[in-house]
Amino acid sequence: MKNISVAIDGPSGAGKSTIAKAAAKELGFTYVDTGAMYRTLGLAAIESGTDMDDGEALSRLLSGLGLNIKYIDGTQHVFIGERDVSDGIRRPEVSMAASRVSAHHQVRTALVAFQRDMAKRQSVVMDGRDICMHVLPDADVKIYLTASVDDRARRRVEQLREMGAEVSFDEVRADIEKRDYDDTHREVSPLRQAPDAHLIDTTGFTLEQGMDAVISYIKEKAHVL
Ligand code: DC
Repeated sequence: MKNISVAIDGPSGAGKSTIAKAAAKELGFTYVDTGAMYRTLGLAAIESGTDMDDGEALSRLLSGLGLNIKYIDGTQHVFIGERDVSDGIRRPEVSMAASRVSAHHQVRTALVAFQRDMAKRQSVVMDGRDICMHVLPDADVKIYLTASVDDRARRRVEQLREMGAEVSFDEVRADIEKRDYDDTHREVSPLRQAPDAHLIDTTGFTLEQGMDAVISYIKEKAHVL
């Protein structure tokens, strides 16, 4: 049977990863969180003191990093060599670093090749910023998932507090606005809704309502039950 690919793009904090993960589980597909790959390189750049304005240096760091994706109980984990960094990459300073390293074309070229390869091998629900237009332009289903900045900041604050981080709403909101600006204004593959992507705005939705909207659209469009 042909592999099916579902591409989901959208800004930070729109609930993409939670919803995409739930959709993948429901459909029996593999969930691929591409943001985690940029985050891993961001973390490695912080730890090694690599200049985040130097695309060549970041590309060298990436190729020697031993970036690896493994699935443990159906959940995607990212590794640097043998080290599982899945939790460490969620810290706010790593979010900023991920946004900075993702602006370099050398970094994007390498990670996009890795992502396409994953989609070739299996049916996937893949989320990110450039999936619909660049990584998987022939995806069977394309969704642009968004929500208002306030809603997204509220959800991110909850998530970070659950993880034990002490954060203020204003700080998180400002971070999200800055990342939105940077992600939509970078030269290479800026975040944009693809013309053929279906818009789902989850402002005011509960998580369950967001999941329902996405999963029912995928089932309808990909003719899977
Ligand atoms: O989705 P996220 O917050 O984990 O993504 C972290 C950063 O990585 C985000 O600021 C933009 C970048 N990113 C990207 O440029 N392209 C992707 N496909 C996924 C993420």
